[in-house]
Amino acid sequence: MKLNPAKRIQGRLKLPGDKSISHRAALIGALASGVTNIHNFSTAVDCGSTLSCLRQLGVRVERHDSEVKIQGTKLQKPDATLDCGNSGSTIRILSGVLARQDFSSELSGDSSLNSRPMGRIIKPLELMGARFESTDGKPPLVIHGTSSIQPITYETPIASAQVKSAILFAGLGANGRTQVKESSLSRDHTERLFNGFGVKVITEKDLTVTLDGPAQLTGGEITVPGDASSAAYFVAAAMLLSGSELTIDGIGLNPTRAEFLSVLKSWGANVSTVGITNERNEPVGSIRVRGGINSSVSSERRLDRPKIPSVIDELPLLAVVGTQIEGGIEIRDAAELRHKESDRLSSTATNLQLMGADVEEHPDGLIVNGPTQLHGAELDSFGDHRIAMAFTVAALIAEGPTTIAGSNCVGISFPEFFELMDSVVLR
Ligand code: S3P
Repeated sequence: MKLNPAKRIQGRLKLPGDKSISHRAALIGALASGVTNIHNFSTAVDCGSTLSCLRQLGVRVERHDSEVKIQGTKLQKPDATLDCGNSGSTIRILSGVLARQDFSSELSGDSSLNSRPMGRIIKPLELMGARFESTDGKPPLVIHGTSSIQPITYETPIASAQVKSAILFAGLGANGRTQVKESSLSRDHTERLFNGFGVKVITEKDLTVTLDGPAQLTGGEITVPGDASSAAYFVAAAMLLSGSELTIDGIGLNPTRAEFLSVLKSWGANVSTVGITNERNEPVGSIRVRGGINSSVSSERRLDRPKIPSVIDELPLLAVVGTQIEGGIEIRDAAELRHKESDRLSSTATNLQLMGADVEEHPDGLIVNGPTQLHGAELDSFGDHRIAMAFTVAALIAEGPTTIAGSNCVGISFPEFFELMDSVVLR
């Protein structure tokens, strides 16, 4: 992909449904009584992986673009390996569902997914009574499920919504109280949606979630909010190009996902949210951005532990924005980024350096000095959708053209990304 610098961003957008909520809504639909109709289902290839795994498990899934209808059913033993593609949420959360089935199944993915750590879900799900086979805790995973899955009280060593969700989905089938404690709050869509589909999950002090099983979800309708993580690229581009005016409607504003808006505001962005409504316990509203950075806003430029899980997918983008912030920014306690679709600390630092940024890579984060005028360069996506999109934003504010090799990986989360960006960019 060859990208030229932009003058500003102008327009009004609506984005496809949230990826995290779509995965969960599909799994809920498969397990729930009755029919679940999901409107504005994510167009991400990753969410397609969840649907195709469910079909392999005997679930009736009808899909017409972003309309998905799922008939809840008893899952059946698949006759082939479940292909999770590139999707960490599919393999990890579905493992929680399969841990409580009376059959064995195998899950695998592409080379990136098959190199990612699964010990984090294997450990608690084995404590609940399932048995796993893997090589060094990496996919392919063979899961020997059990319908007599046990409840658990589990303290997660890393704040991960995928791990928390895998335990909660397994806990639906357990006889007794399942409790997950986190050190920092990770995204809470599973808790909100379980409550929205008839299963009570209690959250205390934001960090301990409790579910009493066995519990039966009840199917119904849901309109998936627009994806906040996808919106982030447009918000950042509009912030960084003065004179921009952008509105994005219907975006999920769950605080465990929309934290990047507060971070950008604290760095001087002119961003607001309006018209907030509620969809199955998820807040939804419009985001408005006016271009320009107010450098007199003097607040914390360091992002660390408690906030990291709530901006985990936006960190490469926030590092790009950091190059334009007076005094620069610092990201710490973010070693988890090394276990994403690429090693995102290394991919981000490499690409930023190629564009002339002053950046230091540390084992758990990045120090980005600023402001620096970025220049166009030949970059790599490292096969990682979020790196491709973050550096598209960098390319828009750079001097001279940029190329990003392997940028078609954006389809993993946001196939319409380049087309929609083009529709609001003025050159
Ligand atoms: C996700 C959780 C996060 C995030 C991923 C989606 C989810 O991963 O990075 O893109 O849908 O639960 P972790 O739970 O591993 O932090």
